[in-house]
Amino acid sequence: MSEDDKERTVELHYEGGVLKLPVFTGTEGERTIELKTLLGSTGMTTLDPGFGNTASCSSKITYIDGAAGILRYRGYPIEDLAVGATFLEVAYLVIYGELPESGQLKEFSDKLRENADIPADMGTLIDAMPRNGHPMSLLASAVNTLAAYYDDSVDPSDENQVELATIRLLAKLPTIAARIYRNSIGEKPIAPDDSLDYVENFIRMTFGDNAPTGNLGDLFNKAVGMLLVLHADHELNCSTATVRVVGSSQADIFASVASGVNALSGPSHGGANQAVLEMLEGIRDSGTSIEDFLERVKAREVRLMGFGHRVYKNFDPRSKEIKVLASQILDHDDNPDELFKLALKLEAAALADSYFTERKLYPNVDFYTGVIYRTMGFPNNMFTVLFALGRLPGWIAHYREQLHDPAFRIARPRQHYIGSAERRYPGQG
Ligand code: ACO
Repeated sequence: MSEDDKERTVELHYEGGVLKLPVFTGTEGERTIELKTLLGSTGMTTLDPGFGNTASCSSKITYIDGAAGILRYRGYPIEDLAVGATFLEVAYLVIYGELPESGQLKEFSDKLRENADIPADMGTLIDAMPRNGHPMSLLASAVNTLAAYYDDSVDPSDENQVELATIRLLAKLPTIAARIYRNSIGEKPIAPDDSLDYVENFIRMTFGDNAPTGNLGDLFNKAVGMLLVLHADHELNCSTATVRVVGSSQADIFASVASGVNALSGPSHGGANQAVLEMLEGIRDSGTSIEDFLERVKAREVRLMGFGHRVYKNFDPRSKEIKVLASQILDHDDNPDELFKLALKLEAAALADSYFTERKLYPNVDFYTGVIYRTMGFPNNMFTVLFALGRLPGWIAHYREQLHDPAFRIARPRQHYIGSAERRYPGQG
């Protein structure tokens, strides 16, 4: 807090008096009232369902201006990173705070290659999991067990252990995700290949000899890399907030990230990319018109998946980049992808309808990702796993940042109790 900040206050007038509360100003001028003294001074708490108005920490990682459609990692605009940076550069930036110099990037990338294998026992464990189970459920379970396989990197108070766990998570998640996918199609796992880069290796471990080669292969590598970059962090979203909450109890980073995977799986969060594709397929297969579908949305029978966002009340800047990518991959004059065409029409119809514009509902990051992943050959239930691979640097960065936050306390919200007043168990009074 700067001296300047200390002088800024707001006054809360309540029955018992007036409480002065400090106001902090963030890098971009956004202002936050600190409520630390509220309960002690007034006996009152605040009620903020969904934490829509609550900053639970100070953070230096990601800046979002939802009204202006701005997203920056460590100050760098997402538009620059999406076209100019590799996923590993962005992962390094998000976690360590600065873009890597070439030597640092090589060292980082070498460490990830060296650690990409998983223990044979862990492979057997993953192979024994239900093959038809949802990959997000299997991924969360597998990430949780990393703490058991690597109990030399579970101590949050030891920086070297946290660093080792960081490398292990980043290195092994693609290997685990690809193995889960191959099990689901009854194919043998493919070991990591340390001659390939991070994204290429993941695609190779997933599709093996069916991975596209030549120009198409290059295009797919670039597209997956860009999608991972676009997902790398998004400040205190549901899964990242979950990672912080779990980590605040001093739980290890594997347990915290596994919790993030679980939070991401829900259709209101990362699971929306799967839900969007199922919605598009449903519209196509049922023969419903777009107009009729939107009427059902407005009647609140269904949600328009991939639309709306807690923070963006204007275009999600990620969705703009993804739409461009989708049209590069799917919009061939001779044979445009039918679900992409449908998505374009659905978007246009929703944006021409006052129900959506009045509520500031625009396409979010998930609206076009599914159609891209589908055309690459990923099944619908793997889309959210790809999101998790992208979001991993963000989860790690927030976990680590929290460990060094001087204001850090265990996350323990209050409640507004509206249940029964005291009553006695029969026969006890
Ligand atoms: N379709 C139809 N109506 C919607 C939608 C939608 N997708 N999203 C919000 N609304 C409506 C609400 O019904 C509400 O209307 P009302 O004021 O008349 O009651 C209004 O818009 C405000 O919506 P809230 O639910 O208050 O918005 P909130 O910020 O709580 O929810 C969320 C955000 C969960 C993303 C929501 O927009 C949604 O469910 N979208 C669809 C799922 C989705 O795409 N999720 C991915 C989000 S991005 C991410 O997590 C990676």
